[in-house]
Parts: sequence; C-alpha cells; structure tokens
Amino acid sequence: MLTIAFVTSALALIAAASPAPFDNNGVRIALQKRDDGLQSVTDLVDVGALLAALERTVSKFENGFAAYKTNTGQAHPLTVLPDLLGGDDDGSGSDNSTLSRRGTTGRGYVPLTDDNNGELWQGSLTIGTPAKTYTVQFDTGSSDLFVPGSQCSDANCQGHAKYFPANSSTSVDVKKTFQLNYGSGSVSGEQYTDTVTISGLTSLKQRLGATSSESSSFSKANFPPDGLMGMAYQSISQYNAPPVFQSLVSQKQVTTPAFSFKLSQSGAELFLGGADSNLYTGSFTYAPVTTQGYWQVKLDNVTVNAAMPVNNVQSVIDTGTTLIVADMPQVRQFYAAIPGSKDASATVGEGFFTFPCSATEHVGLTFSGRNFAIAPSLFNLGRVSSGSNDCVGAVVGTNDLNFWVVGDTFLQNVYTTFDFGNNRVGFATLK
Ligand SMILES: *[C@@H]1O[C@H](CO)[C@@H](O)[C@H](O)[C@H]1NC(C)=O
Ligand SMILES: *[C@@H]1O[C@H](CO)[C@@H](O)[C@H](O)[C@H]1NC(C)=O
Ligand SMILES: *[C@@H]1O[C@H](CO)[C@@H](O)[C@H](O)[C@H]1NC(C)=O
Repeated sequence: MLTIAFVTSALALIAAASPAPFDNNGVRIALQKRDDGLQSVTDLVDVGALLAALERTVSKFENGFAAYKTNTGQAHPLTVLPDLLGGDDDGSGSDNSTLSRRGTTGRGYVPLTDDNNGELWQGSLTIGTPAKTYTVQFDTGSSDLFVPGSQCSDANCQGHAKYFPANSSTSVDVKKTFQLNYGSGSVSGEQYTDTVTISGLTSLKQRLGATSSESSSFSKANFPPDGLMGMAYQSISQYNAPPVFQSLVSQKQVTTPAFSFKLSQSGAELFLGGADSNLYTGSFTYAPVTTQGYWQVKLDNVTVNAAMPVNNVQSVIDTGTTLIVADMPQVRQFYAAIPGSKDASATVGEGFFTFPCSATEHVGLTFSGRNFAIAPSLFNLGRVSSGSNDCVGAVVGTNDLNFWVVGDTFLQNVYTTFDFGNNRVGFATLK
C-alpha cells in the first residue's frame, strides 16, 4: 500500500533531483541529451552510428506492428510491405523473418555494437516502494515501459540501474513474459505491475517489463539510459496494457490528456499535462492522428525551397528516432530536388544520400498546410570524409518502411504536443 509518508518522501526526492514547478496543471521534466551526436570528431559523419540508428528504428516498428496485430486482430494499415510481419502471428516477437530476409537480399545488416548510437533524450522516473530512480528514454514511437531486471546478468545490463521486484512491496508479478526484437538480438523478460512516479505524478499498478536479457543495442555504451518509456497508444503495446501516460490520465494525475516536448540543445523538456506556454510562441498547427497506434499523421509535403518533391504521405512523429527515415523511392524523389545529391548506399550505407556541403537549399515539412523548416545544421550530418565536398543528409531511405518516420532531425526545430484528448499532434514555433 502507498502511505502518506512514502508520497512525501518521493516528492521530496524528485523535487531535489529536478526543479519541476507545476504550471498549467502540468509538470516539467528536464531532459538531457547524450552529446555523442552522429558526428564524431571534427565534422565527419559517424557511419556506424548512422546505420545502427536506422536498424534500431526499423526493428522498433516491426515490434509495434506485431503487437498491433495481436491486440486488434488486424494488420496495421502501414504494414503493407510483404513479410514485414513474417510468421510472427502470435505477436511474441520471436520471428526470424526480418533477419533472414535481410540475409537473402544482402541488405546492410549492422550489429549494434557501435559506441555511438545516436542522440537519445532521457529523463528520470521512479519505480517501486521504496521508490528507486531510473533514467529512461521517452519514446513516442512505442508504448511499453521496460527497465533492466534483477535477473539480467548479461553484459548489456551492466552499468544500468536494475529493478528488483523482490525489494519493492508494491511489485506484483503478472506472470507473463515479453520479447522485443532489436536488430541483432532482443530485449526480453517478465511483466510486473508496480508504482511508477514521474515528476511527482503517480501511476499505481503500472504495467512494466523487467528484462532478463538485452541486446547490444541497449548496452550502456549504445544506450545510456537504464530503460525506455513508450508514449504512444495502447494498441501497439506488447503488454496490451495502459502505457504510463494513459495511466496518469485515468488515475487523474494530470487534467489535460496531452504531453509536449521541446527537444533542443538549449534546454530540452517533457511537459506532462498539456503544453508549457513558456516554450513556444504563436499557436499550434494540429494534424489529426490517422490510426491510433503510433502518433501517425498525414505529412502534406516535403519541401526543398519552393519545390515539393513528396506529397500526401503518412508519417509517424517519433521522439525515439534520431533521423528522418522513409520509403526509399520517395527519399530518392526528395534528393532529386537537391542538385548534386547522390545515392550513397555503396559508400556511406544502404539508404543514405549525400548532397554538396555548399548547398543552400532549405528543407522543410508541411503539416496541415503549415511549413516548418529544418535547420541546415540539423539536415547536414557531416562530411563523408575529411576534405570531401559531399555531406550526408539526415533524410534516409529504407525498403522496410513505406511511410515517413519523423524523428529528432525535425523535432528539434519545433515545439510538439501529443494530444490524446483530441487525437492530434500539434507543432508550434519554439520561443
Ligand atoms: C530462429 O533462427 C534460429 C537459428 O536459425 C533458430 O534456432 C530458432 O529456432 C529460430 N526461431 C524461430 C522462432 O523460428
Ligand atoms: C535487493 O535485495 C537483495 C536481497 O534481498 C539485495 O541483495 C539487493 O542489494 C537489493 N537490491 C537493491 C537494488 O536494493
Ligand atoms: C501538398 O500537399 C497537399 C496535401 O497532401 C496537396 O494537396 C498539395 O497538392 C501538395 N502540394 C504540391 C505543390 O504538390
């Protein structure tokens, strides 16, 4: 049982850890970014990190599609590509089709052992009684919370804070396992319910996973936070249980069923319970969610100066993806609008393109009729090699996804609100 004493001490702990003043009936969570970037020393692009990040994004969507099919009995509308779900009809995630397909097509499969795995936005929450603190990546592209468990003895769990169910008086074993595939391996373990607090808000009996094994993509070197907190709809939850934010809403911890992100080098923040009016100016432009699984919205146009090489496509707004990853033929069309750009599949890695470092084109995305620019410094990932005039673009093609994954490359340019109450995503100008 939760006692008053516990609540008081947990709040004190969190207040000490991060200033989280209440505003607009919501709370703020400061986010940190591991500054490994995708650019290594000087301005050279880190190819290994780029490929690892791409592999991770594709894996994540495959997990969500499998869960959606299990939970709803229907294939997710975006899963039209043959054998994307393979034989994994039970949604267990234990399916080899992805790897074998890549093997047979000779696709650039890269084990996630790179030291730099991209830019991860992280913050903290507590689990259990007494409360123990974990850092998590806040991921709008998935829906489950998991942290390393006490049973995880493999090297990939080392250096991370582990959850000991036996040490928490509020922990209950759900007697179900889970498994999420990530590139070369998987993250698997046992499901529990326990008390989760985030910036003073409490979710009782929150479903979470305690891993007993993790793939190298979650080793401390590749994934600095301890765990991951999914923030999309329940339909893509492998647990098929309410995700943390939905629990906070149903348990009346927040009054406004929306959360917002500022992902910027100059002070990143997650706001739970609405939007932080200190961080944006003007009004939001909203795009309605088209399928309630991911934060999926229509992307009207991809722009290059006045040109609109790609129009009317589906997109997923994903804080957990570093770049913008999209359907290969459309990405080809996009780069065709930037003179001097080249397919760099053979040099940088499959799906990548380069453009002249001196290019002056401006890239943007249009949602609900409003164009938002991507800063050139975010679109340009760095030079291919020292002295090269070719720079790598942050829009990457894949044959595995037929939609646009709109990640941090775009989200660092705007203030974004994810609104469950009205099933829409809103973008506004950062203050
Ligand atoms: C996946 O492949 C491995 C190695 O070929 C095999 O041992 C395993 O049984 C396969 N798993 C499934 C679920 O098919
Ligand atoms: C949990 O309890 C075990 C013994 O029951 C103890 O060895 C371990 O240090 C505890 N772990 C944490 C993180 O408190
Ligand atoms: C931009 O996208 C909208 C909506 O998808 C479409 O109607 C319009 O034709 C596009 N603009 C251009 C110039 O293609």
